[in-house]
Amino acid sequence: MDTQYTNLIQAASEARRQYYAPYSNFAVGAALQCKSGTVFVGSNIENISYGLTICAERVAIGSAVAAGEREFVAIAVVADTNEPIVPCGACRQFLAEFAPDLIIVSATLRGDQKIENLSVLLPDPKRGIREDVHTP
Ligand code: THU
Repeated sequence: MDTQYTNLIQAASEARRQYYAPYSNFAVGAALQCKSGTVFVGSNIENISYGLTICAERVAIGSAVAAGEREFVAIAVVADTNEPIVPCGACRQFLAEFAPDLIIVSATLRGDQKIENLSVLLPDPKRGIREDVHTP
């Protein structure tokens, strides 16, 4: 097992304890490593209007960006699943805004882990979006 991200996974596991998920009862924690060295964490925050739910990954990067961070190295995501959890499509797009080559460290509570790159999970995240592709 790769021990390079042990601390980041630990930070995500601790952040997971703050989950607010009364609708799914599914707890997720995330820890985002900034290029500066600072780590920002997040847990999932659900809403009675289900679609407003924010995943742990987006909470983490939102906190980091709001604190002035713009460059990111890796994000660890932890949940109590059989297979390591990977960010959903919305989170992939949101993360790719700042770090299209972000390292995604997925881990289960029992210690399985998988490391992959956001550019594989979401290739070409900005193509075909915005007015520069609009023909009147
Ligand atoms: N969730 C996350 O926080 N991150 C993921 O990568 C997948 C899903 C949350 C959203 C919702 O609160 C719950 O998990 C069930 O989907």
